Amino acid sequence: MPSSRKQALGQEQAGEILHDRSGIVFRPGLEGVPVTQSAICDIDGLQGSLTYRGYPVEDLAAHSTFLETTYLLIWGELPSPKQLRDFEAEVQMHRRVSFRVRDMMKCFPATGHPMDALQSSAASLGLFYSRRAIDNPKYVYEAVVRLIAKIPTMVAAFKLIRKGQDPIQPRDDLAYSSNFLYMLTEREPDPLAARIFDRCLILHAEHSLNASTFSARVTASTLTDPYAVVASAVGTLAGPLHGGANEDVLAMLEEIGSPERAGEYLDEAIACKRKIMGFGHREYRVKDPRAVILQGLAEELFARFGKDEMYDVARALEHEAASRLGPKGIYPNVDFYSGLVYRKLGIPRDLFTPVFAISRVAGWLAHWREQLGANRIFRPSQIYTGAQARAWIPGEDRPTSAGA
Ligand code: COA
Repeated sequence: MPSSRKQALGQEQAGEILHDRSGIVFRPGLEGVPVTQSAICDIDGLQGSLTYRGYPVEDLAAHSTFLETTYLLIWGELPSPKQLRDFEAEVQMHRRVSFRVRDMMKCFPATGHPMDALQSSAASLGLFYSRRAIDNPKYVYEAVVRLIAKIPTMVAAFKLIRKGQDPIQPRDDLAYSSNFLYMLTEREPDPLAARIFDRCLILHAEHSLNASTFSARVTASTLTDPYAVVASAVGTLAGPLHGGANEDVLAMLEEIGSPERAGEYLDEAIACKRKIMGFGHREYRVKDPRAVILQGLAEELFARFGKDEMYDVARALEHEAASRLGPKGIYPNVDFYSGLVYRKLGIPRDLFTPVFAISRVAGWLAHWREQLGANRIFRPSQIYTGAQARAWIPGEDRPTSAGA
């Protein structure tokens, strides 16, 4: 049972349910508290189903493209062929970032985390496109296009800038995902690799009200600009409890080293109450549907470009975990196989979370639009636990040991 639910139940059993002044029960982490209505994404954690605007993610990953899915998420319907062509052309036209942004990125420390670089660069776009006309559909469309177009360019640019190189300019003859892999790896990707990467972007594009999306909605509710909305969501995604578990999965698989050690590793970790990275989810009690698809993508990639030896370790771990963690509803989540896919695509480990952001910007922008459609600024209550009202004391009368 999730810890916060246990905490809330614990409070109830101890007869000390915490309420705010209006009698609303305190739920740490807002777990199970609906804070918005949304028509964007639906998750059934018992059935293991995930839909975007009613379309199963399996169908989108098989037949759609990331840009088409982005359009669907943000505007609610699949685009007509003309709408899609126009959207793709607009995104392609806005991929370049100003030399001023690139120069700014050159001043970032090379040792800085790429997520911090991305958060700063995304926020800086607000300086360049400062007109704030969020009730103007043209402004909204242009802001969506700019963010979808420029975020990948900024992620790829920092990867080269930190090595002391100049960023590679986007190539107009390459589609969205091919162009990103080209800017990142400095060579044109194999079409199969590009298609698999595009499908990864579809799988990560939206997942209802997780921490970064909630952060995006809170920021959106103040009616600030979409660049600030995305920058705050990037900052939230950067935390180790949210994005980033896929990096840890690879480290864990390497530590296990061979399939024969998987059972022993699990027993040891469970005995020490250590979490198995890439397992478990607040919503799912079965294998995450995205993990099912990502495993298939990993196999497609390995069949073509050679296997990653850690894949056998991953499969052995999943097999051994079924009897040990399955009864508690703990199964592989989206992060379990994605790291293996990204590594095969030549993406460095510390770019896994920025790549997640490239994709999730679609979901954040969908929630931004939806929030603006029925806005009420977020302002939850709190339960005050500080001192009662007291009189100010002149400095000379204060005890010497007061305060910190
Ligand atoms: N490995 C082993 N045990 C796990 C586990 C894991 N990955 N995830 C949850 N559990 C166990 C907990 O130890 C706890 O057991 P207990 O009831 O005996 O104390 C129980 O399941 C509930 O765990 P909790 O952390 O409260 O569940 P949650 O719903 O709050 O957490 C996650 C969801 C994703 C944070 C959690 O599963 C986790 O930390 N997973 C590993 C990190 C990861 O892969 N993150 C990416 C998520 S997409």
